[in-house]
Amino acid sequence: MQNDTKKPEPQAPTKKVFIKTWGCQMNVYDSTRMSDALEADGYAPTTTMEDADLVLLNTCHIREKAAEKVYSNLGRIRQLKETRAGTDRPLTIGVTGCVAQAEGQEIIRRERAVDLVVGPQTYHRLPEIVTRSKSGPQVDTEYAVEDKFEHLALPKKRQVQARGVTAFLTVQEGCDKFCTFCVVPYTRGAEVSRPLAQILDEARALIDAGVREITLLGQNVNAWHGVDGTGRELGLGHLLHHLAALPGIARLRYVTSHPRDMADDLIEAHRDLDCLMPYLHLPVQAGSDKILKSMNRGHTSADYLSIINRVREARPDIAISGDMIVGFPGETDDDFEATMEIVRQTNYAACYSFKYSMRPGTPGAEMTDQVDEAVKTERLARLQALLSDQQKAFNAACIGKTIDVLIEKPGRTEDQWIGRSPWLQSVVMPRTLGAIGDIVSVDVIAAQANSLMGAGAQLAPPASHNSTSQNMETATL
Ligand code: SAH
Ligand code: SF4
Ligand code: F3S
Repeated sequence: MQNDTKKPEPQAPTKKVFIKTWGCQMNVYDSTRMSDALEADGYAPTTTMEDADLVLLNTCHIREKAAEKVYSNLGRIRQLKETRAGTDRPLTIGVTGCVAQAEGQEIIRRERAVDLVVGPQTYHRLPEIVTRSKSGPQVDTEYAVEDKFEHLALPKKRQVQARGVTAFLTVQEGCDKFCTFCVVPYTRGAEVSRPLAQILDEARALIDAGVREITLLGQNVNAWHGVDGTGRELGLGHLLHHLAALPGIARLRYVTSHPRDMADDLIEAHRDLDCLMPYLHLPVQAGSDKILKSMNRGHTSADYLSIINRVREARPDIAISGDMIVGFPGETDDDFEATMEIVRQTNYAACYSFKYSMRPGTPGAEMTDQVDEAVKTERLARLQALLSDQQKAFNAACIGKTIDVLIEKPGRTEDQWIGRSPWLQSVVMPRTLGAIGDIVSVDVIAAQANSLMGAGAQLAPPASHNSTSQNMETATL
């Protein structure tokens, strides 16, 4: 990587790719890897669809609404393609991600303007698939036997720098848990851990390019396992130790964890590693043991609360976040009350909450005791009111404290930066405090639903969205 900037570009980019991303952080990461792979093949990234020769929709299948958006978007893009037909800049349209994996050929049947459909396990083949699509529609939704990461070049310094001082790094992918509501085991396949050396190489490339904070990604990131050079078995806690030893790394995070994989080495890492941020996203989904069983979660509400207690003992200032589903089949008023109760007991710093959405092919969709939509709506509103109170209280408790903030990007005015607190809150602060990439001490003087205000910063207008549903489009992993 050292000589990276001195090497001539293999090929001057002549064409442009526009990628629209839905879904979780892993889709965001995948989009960057696809963009990088295509750049090596002559496609420069663009942020305007009209400017593109290739449009990719990197899609999410988690809830019905997410999947439907793909088709409404495709309708609009088809019109753009029609205006470009017969010109010297024809438009190629691709669907990637979890809808691609789940629906495959069906996407081209429903929307004939689509030229290629590529699942999450084969996007390293994108450049050749794009070329082949010139002679007819292509579908590649194999669970590839080869490791896609072995085939993707490490990101280049310039590409990483364009994305800022924080970065995602997939270390684990797929899921063997088969919760009865969830499509992920079908769209992302079986649990796979990337090897230690491969992860360290990618982390070094990110750090070399100025990244200060790395968030490790996995659908079940704490199921990551590997071996070190001596053949010793490792868990995620050990991996965090290896990463923490890399010179230049300032902050580490990981998402999303499953309660069943919350091993001792990981809890101890929260106690022992300063650069591991005090934040744990640990979804429980529901508070009733009957519903947890029917969801096939493999843990009870007491198991969950005992993990939270152990984590808080190891790292008292840790912020807990989670995901909740309301209206799973068979959920009674009492079951929902148990969800409210586990939320009260956990006391979340942030939590995403969703109405149960029936997904084709999952056991939940076959269950006969589906909950009425109006009941789901009413329960979600009550839950979100409680979660919003908890989030506001968590943020308000920061007022008067001096906290470490990683400066990330420009704020709304020319004299502001936006940074990130250890607990993942956005912090607005004056530019006089430092430069992008610096970690600085900030005196918190005010708190809003989604952000903190540092001394000397101007009060920003209130955020327009609801804190607990802010990420309906970019869901948690
Ligand atoms: N791997 C993570 C979650 C992945 S999906 C875990 O094990 O917790 C992200 C979130 O979407 C889930 O935590 C769940 O809250 C929500 N979700 C998944 N399937 C859903 C469905 N069918 N309806 C509503 N929400 C769903
Ligand atoms: Fe796997 Fe998480 Fe989906 Fe459960 S909710 S099946 S653990 S991805
Ligand atoms: Fe796939 Fe992530 Fe959505 S794994 S289904 S893009 S939440």
